[in-house]
Amino acid sequence: MGRVLVLYYSWSNGNTERVAQELADACGADVERIHTAAPYPKDYNRTVSQGKREVEKGFEPELMSLHHDPADYDVIAVGTPTWWYTMAPAVRTLLNSREWNGKVVVPFSTCAGWEGTALDDMAALARGARVAEPLTVTFGSDGGDRMVTDPRKVTDWAGRVAALA
Ligand SMILES: Cc1cc2nc3c(=O)[nH]c(=O)nc-3n(C[C@H](O)[C@H](O)[C@H](O)COP(=O)(O)O)c2cc1C
Repeated sequence: MGRVLVLYYSWSNGNTERVAQELADACGADVERIHTAAPYPKDYNRTVSQGKREVEKGFEPELMSLHHDPADYDVIAVGTPTWWYTMAPAVRTLLNSREWNGKVVVPFSTCAGWEGTALDDMAALARGARVAEPLTVTFGSDGGDRMVTDPRKVTDWAGRVAALA
C-alpha cells in the first residue's frame, strides 16, 4: 500500500481546502496546506489584481517550509484554486521546486466556472511524474463557497485516487 500526501493552496473561501480534506479522508492521507512567505492582501479585488500580474509574469512566490516531504510518498495530490485560468502562483513554486520522478501526481483545482488550463499546466510542471485522475471542482460564479459540481463526482474521484495507492 503506497503512501498518499495531499498538498493544497487555498486563499478565498477554503474551497480547495474542502476538496483536499475530503480526498485526504478518503485516502487516509497526510494533508498539508501550503503558504506563501508574504501574505496576499486581505481585500479580494486587490489580490485578484496582484494575482493577474503574477500569473502573467510566471512569478513564483517564496513558500513557507513544508512539514511533509513529498519524497517520502508514492502518490502526491496537488490542489489549487484557479487564478487567472491557471494554477495559483504558490502552486507553480511548489511544482517547479522539486523532482517528481517515480511519483504519481494527482492535480486538482477549484474554480468559479472558468477553469482554463490549470490542470494541464500543473501536469506539464510535474516533470517525471505519472499524472493521474486530474479533477476540477466548480464553485459558484460569484467566487463564493457553494459547490456547483455534483458532490458525488468528488466522492467518486476520491475513491479512485485512494485506489491508486
Ligand atoms: C486571484 C484570483 C483569480 C481568480 N481567477 C479565476 C479564474 O480565472 N477562473 C475562475 O473560474 N475562478 C477564478 N477565481 C475564483 C477561484 O478560483 C474560486 O473561487 C476558487 O474556488 C477559490 O478557492 P479557495 O477558496 O480554495 O481559494 C479567482 C480567484 C482569485 C482570488
